[in-house]
Amino acid sequence: MVLYVIIKLAKDGGFVRKLQVYPVKGWNSLQYWTKFCSPWKVIKNFLIIQICRYSPSLSFKNFLARRFLKMKVGRGVSWGLMAMADVFWPEMISIGDNSILGYNSTLLCHEFLCSELRLGKINIGANVLIGANATILAGVDIGDDAVVAAGALVNRDVEKGEFVGGVPIQRIRMSYGGNEKVAQV
Ligand SMILES: CC(C)(COP(=O)(O)OP(=O)(O)OC[C@H]1O[C@@H](n2cnc3c(N)ncnc32)[C@H](O)[C@@H]1OP(=O)(O)O)[C@@H](O)C(=O)NCCC(=O)NCCS
Repeated sequence: MVLYVIIKLAKDGGFVRKLQVYPVKGWNSLQYWTKFCSPWKVIKNFLIIQICRYSPSLSFKNFLARRFLKMKVGRGVSWGLMAMADVFWPEMISIGDNSILGYNSTLLCHEFLCSELRLGKINIGANVLIGANATILAGVDIGDDAVVAAGALVNRDVEKGEFVGGVPIQRIRMSYGGNEKVAQV
């Protein structure tokens, strides 16, 4: 099986995504998922992830993610309800200290396409906000102190401190820095 890596340069100079690509012949690649990943591992991951999605305890979620999903999870990481790690290869995810994964955000380390399977690590730095309903694609690095706005599709690296949003993401500002417009009540 041929294995190669895609590293493209984004318009702003950052890397787009770092992916391992496994071409398949015949049916679409998802038809062959059991050849790429043990079904028992996927069943175990699915059950653990479902517990994590509904559990209100942040420390319990971090424990489960480290112990049973083999994810690298820093101290003080907070998962919103329904936030979802990759069900096949969660061990390819790392999250730095004090980061937040917003409600229903999704971290995907795999992409089953019709003619190939792509895999890529997700590295989220420290003090990062991932907004609700954001989707992080495989092969992406998100730098420390970055902010990903709610509903974003992250299909390239995000620089340290960068504030991004949209589908796919665009730079909103180079640093978030809070917002004075929010009314104090
Ligand atoms: C990132 C976030 C906090 C920014 O909120 P804010 O500081 O009030 O920022 P504003 O609404 O003033 O927007 C600042 C800029 O970002 C843009 N923006 C804000 N949210 C955006 C979004 N979800 N997608 C794309 N662009 C967005 C605005 O259009 C604005 O652009 P402009 O400066 O060109 O006018 C907010 O968008 C967000 O995602 N909140 C959800 C947080 C979350 O999910 N937390 C975890 C679960 S509780």
